[in-house]
Amino acid sequence: RPHDAIAQPRDLFGPARRNSAGIDLASEARLADLAEVLTVPWALRAGQGGTARPVLNPADRRDVVGEVIEAEEATVEAALAASRWSAPPAERAALLEGAADLMEARMPALLGPIVREAGKTLPNAVGEVREAVDFLRYYAGQARGLGGHRPLGPVVCISPWNFPLAIFTGQVAAALAAGNPVLAKPAEEVPLIASLAVACLHDAGIPPEALQLLPGDGRVGARLVADARVQGVMFTGSTEVARLIQKQLSTRLGAHGAPVPLIAETGGQNALIVDSSALAEQVVADVLASAFDSAGQRCSALRVLCLQEDVADRILAMLKGAMAELAIGRPDALETDIGPVITDEARDSILAHVEAMRAAGHPVHAAPLPEAARHGSFVAPTVIEIDHMRALTREVFGPVLHVLRFRREGLDALLRDIAATGYALTFGVHSRLDETIERLCSRAPAGNIYVNRNLIGAVVGVQPFGGHGLSGTGPKAGGPLYLRRLLADPMTAPVT
Ligand code: NAD
Ligand code: ALA
Repeated sequence: RPHDAIAQPRDLFGPARRNSAGIDLASEARLADLAEVLTVPWALRAGQGGTARPVLNPADRRDVVGEVIEAEEATVEAALAASRWSAPPAERAALLEGAADLMEARMPALLGPIVREAGKTLPNAVGEVREAVDFLRYYAGQARGLGGHRPLGPVVCISPWNFPLAIFTGQVAAALAAGNPVLAKPAEEVPLIASLAVACLHDAGIPPEALQLLPGDGRVGARLVADARVQGVMFTGSTEVARLIQKQLSTRLGAHGAPVPLIAETGGQNALIVDSSALAEQVVADVLASAFDSAGQRCSALRVLCLQEDVADRILAMLKGAMAELAIGRPDALETDIGPVITDEARDSILAHVEAMRAAGHPVHAAPLPEAARHGSFVAPTVIEIDHMRALTREVFGPVLHVLRFRREGLDALLRDIAATGYALTFGVHSRLDETIERLCSRAPAGNIYVNRNLIGAVVGVQPFGGHGLSGTGPKAGGPLYLRRLLADPMTAPVT
């Protein structure tokens, strides 16, 4: 059987479950009392006033996780009017470090909501808390170096659902570290996790008017972006929404008479090039993690696997064999490799892409879906063979991997085709030839380049993360330049 080539299929996600210190996150979670960890506090609620809407578990729509009251116009207006903060850098740093300590201590209470509201597997949920804590500590350290630099003023943070704790906290921590009061608009799918993050920051001593949570959909985000009191916008999400925000901000100037800064971190059409010298077993393990971990719902996830013609059949056969071993199902089960996608709409949109590709004649291979998947929004890990990058017209945000064969003499043309997508987020090379690695890395259209490893899980402060072109404006999150964009006098700020 093809997958016999992989010694231990159950360990396929092993490397992704280890953090940078080599701690096995799965066994760490196993040590905890799982029943307690997965219990979501009774009546978990985000927002104030207004009418409550239930928040449902994407793995099982019968499970009501809590409720959210979305911000109405009066709530948004009151938040904008109240938004203010003034604290010296050392105090800001100490508050963020206090929030990091609280978040670490509250990890057991955070895991349940992350698993049940966002559909993340337990190891992914542990990774979320660790990354959020890393962001708090990293930006706190940077705040200390800012001395007398001037903040912008009220900053709006608009976050996606796919890293409901880590990206939400990372944006807010950066804006606060630079001294700005924050209006935080989490993704409509994950308001409860955001409210728990805000509670950590408030309980650590960040004043309520310095950090206000405004749950709601894109209309709340658009309302905030359009308001003249807002002096900066941090956005992570789709390229389409980033364009709308950019357009809106171009119609006005900030209080300092300068353009209102926007940090936008957006999508990718991420490729991995595998030449015939690559180690096939390692390629398969890294492809599984890159394409299917988090059900492919990472901006960094692998979308196009480019295989040199002479090894393509073998690697594809091994990959399909390994896909059959993946455990798909409830994210609260420790053995689960792949949980649900975020909503039924997301599932339908991903499946529509798969069906369109099938109808166009592209070979499609999908792993089997278990019976338990019928109550939630699940998509089976799928491989689609394509013959040109042009077959991809949009980012497909789910567990769908496209496979493209190339000949060695076509490598430069392939790189040009990847660059022609306009996206430039992550990129990978698997090769044992130094010449190939250097050639590809020097021209790779990407912000983050990975050699002989998977494409996911950039570590804050170690692998600053972000792209350019359609993938974002920069500066990279978790990197030394990030806070500069959140200051009124960025060019004289230190790089630490
Ligand atoms: P999305 O663009 O649909 O939504 C992101 C946020 O924008 C949400 O909070 C949403 O409510 C808000 N929003 C929607 N319309 C708005 C408007 N007109 N004005 C202001 N705000 C508005 O994205 P998503 O589905 O939540 O997230 C998935 C996308 O995020 C993918 O494209 C993924 O690649 C990208 N992403 C990028 C990174 C990165 O670091 N580059 C990280 C994570 C996710
Ligand atoms: N920082 C996240 C990753 O690298 C998006 O997977």
